[in-house]
Amino acid sequence: TATKAGASAADQQVEEPLLLRAARGEKVERPPVWMMRQAGRHMSAYRELVKKYPTFRERSEIPDVSTEISLQPWEAYKTDGVILFSDILTPLPGMGVEFTIEEKTGPKIKPIRTWEAVKQMHLMDCMQTCPFVHQTLSDLRKEVGNQATVLGFVGLPYTLATYIVEGQSSKEYLEIKKMMFQEPALLQQMLSVLADNIGEYACFQIDAGAQVIQVFDSWAGHLSPADYDIFAAPYQRQVIEKIKAKHPTVPIIIYINKSGALLERMAQSGADMVSLDWTVTMEEGRRRLGSEMGVQGNLDPAILYAPKEVIKERAEQILREGKGYKHVMNLGHGIEATTPEENAKFFIDTVKAWRY
Ligand code: CP3
Repeated sequence: TATKAGASAADQQVEEPLLLRAARGEKVERPPVWMMRQAGRHMSAYRELVKKYPTFRERSEIPDVSTEISLQPWEAYKTDGVILFSDILTPLPGMGVEFTIEEKTGPKIKPIRTWEAVKQMHLMDCMQTCPFVHQTLSDLRKEVGNQATVLGFVGLPYTLATYIVEGQSSKEYLEIKKMMFQEPALLQQMLSVLADNIGEYACFQIDAGAQVIQVFDSWAGHLSPADYDIFAAPYQRQVIEKIKAKHPTVPIIIYINKSGALLERMAQSGADMVSLDWTVTMEEGRRRLGSEMGVQGNLDPAILYAPKEVIKERAEQILREGKGYKHVMNLGHGIEATTPEENAKFFIDTVKAWRY
C-alpha cells in the first residue's frame, strides 16, 4: 500500500515467525515443524560437546553451551521451532529440591515422602536460581530473529511430582500412587507448591524471550480418569491460568504421553493447542478436540527409522488430516537417541515442501 511504501524501515511491521502465526490460528502457507527433544542425544554435534561438558547440568546451565545445543538442530535442519535446551527438573533446586542426572539411568532425587520434607519446599526466585535460563532464551531470540519461533517449556506438577516422590524415572509409579491413596493431602500440598512455582517460572521464560510455552504432563496418562481429575487437571489449570493472566497472547501447548483416552479432558485445560501422541489419528484428534483447538504432532518417532518413502507417506497423511488450521507438525514424543540425522532432516524437508 501507499502508506507502507512511504514508511521507514522501522515503521514497517516485521512479520512474526511461521510457528507463532500458526499457533495463533492465522492462515499460513504450510505447517511449521520441529521435533520434541530435537536438541540433544540424536545429534553427533551434541555428542561431541558431551566430551567437553560431561554432565547434563553443565550443558544446560552454562548459557553459551545450552544456546549452542539449542541451535544445533536449527542449523542442521532449519526447524521452525527452537526449543530451550534444559529439562523439566531444572527449576527444582530453586524450590529446595536438588537433583542430578546420570547419563545412563536418568534423573536422581532424594525422594520426598513426608510432611516435614514437603514443608521444606518453597517459592523460587527465578532470576536468582535460573539466570542461565533467562540468558539462553534471550540469546536464542537474538540468534534466530524472526526466522524461527523460540519455545520455552515446563513440566506440570503431577509429572514433576512423579520424579520427586519416586526419586527417579518409573514404570509403575507405585510410590506416588501409594501417597495418592494413603495420604492424598500430602501429595496435594506438594502439587500446589509446584503449581505456584511453575506458573511463575513459565512467565519468567516468556519475559526472557520465549514466544510459545509447551507444558509437559508426560506421565499423567498413567492415571485413571478419576485420579487425573483430582491430581493432574486442577494443577495444570492453575499453571495455565497463571500464564494466561500475565501473558494472554502467548500460545500454550499441552503434551501428555499416551493421551488417547484424555483428549476431551486436555481440551478443557485452558491450553491453546494439544500435542497428540501417535495412538490416535490426527483426524480423530481434531474431531474429538473440537474445531477451535490447535493440534501438534503426531508422527511415531520410530517411523524415522523407516525407508524415506514411508516417512513421506505417513507425514503427509498427518498433514492432510491436520486440515491446514492451527497445526504444528511434530513427532508424537521425543526423537529417539539412535535416529539417523539424515532421516530427521528428510522429515523436516518433507514438511517444509508441503503446501496447503
Ligand atoms: O520426554 C518428555 O515426555 C518431555 C518431558 C520431559 C523432559 N524431561 C523434557 C526435556 C521429561 C518427562 C523429562 C524427564 C527427563 N529428564 C528424562 C526422561 C526420563 C524418563 O523418566 O523417561 C531424562 C532422560 C532427563 C534428563 C535429560 N533431559 C537429558 C539427559 C537431556 C538431554 C539429552 C536428551 O536429549 O535426552 C534432556 C533434555 C530435555 N528434556 C529437553 C526437554 C524438552 C531438551 C529440549 C529438546 O531437545 O527438546
